[in-house]
Amino acid sequence: MLKPEAFLQAEYAARFIGSKCPVRPNVAVVLGSGLGDFANELAQPSTIPFGEIPHFPVSTAIGHAGNLVIGNFVGLSLAVMQGRAHFYEGNTFAQAAFPMRVLHQLGVKAVVLTNAAGGINPQYGRGALVMVRDHINMMGGSPLIGPNDDRFGPRFPDMTYAYDREYRKIAEAEAKRLDIPYYEGIYAAMHGPSYETPAEIQMLARMGADLVGMSTVPEVIVARHMDVRVLAISCVTNMAAGLSGEAINHEEVLETGRRVKDTFLALLRAVLPKIAAS
Ligand code: 6GU
Repeated sequence: MLKPEAFLQAEYAARFIGSKCPVRPNVAVVLGSGLGDFANELAQPSTIPFGEIPHFPVSTAIGHAGNLVIGNFVGLSLAVMQGRAHFYEGNTFAQAAFPMRVLHQLGVKAVVLTNAAGGINPQYGRGALVMVRDHINMMGGSPLIGPNDDRFGPRFPDMTYAYDREYRKIAEAEAKRLDIPYYEGIYAAMHGPSYETPAEIQMLARMGADLVGMSTVPEVIVARHMDVRVLAISCVTNMAAGLSGEAINHEEVLETGRRVKDTFLALLRAVLPKIAAS
């Protein structure tokens, strides 16, 4: 639910962050489960725990540090969210995506959203990095429900080009150059927190989904509402229910995140400067 006070709250939170940190970021990265180490790459970092930022939702998920880190990265001013708040933690969709409002207020024009996802497409294996081409929102709601605030964007935002085509071209070129296998796929977002049943995964497969996860889509909707450009990268941490013959556990999800860390980092290092320049 987009509350009428959200604009003022985003302004207030951005002013608080501005008072803690002299750098004005133009690009933001959200790090999903097991991928949080990338924040250590920033030079001259200012680290602010989510809990200190006014109105920020706090993440309770294991594998999420819960900090906003702002600093320099290969010549860019970057804001990195180490973890995110989810709907399944008891947040509304608007709360879960509120950090996008604040980042936009700080001057961010582009976000790279990362997540851990289950693989549905049988071509994927554990550890595959997949650029999201489109999504299917199966979460049962939207962060934009409620009165629209025209200062953010239009009542009925277009979602045709939600996942920036130019950014995906850049990601493809850089992945090829670095010899990282390149995939594009459709991300189905479920509210969780239980993983899907095998029957639900069969349903999602028939709908055309390649990946399944519990995040990212509320943030994409809010980012696109404000015309912030989006690149989303999923790390396939496990195959979805019924596809591997094994049960799914969160430890496996985190372990795969750690295993692909270096590849993932190399891709981000290559892609971020190109995105910032485009
Ligand atoms: Cl299999 N499902 C969902 N919803 N989220 C996941 C996942 C599966 N694997 C990692 N995250």
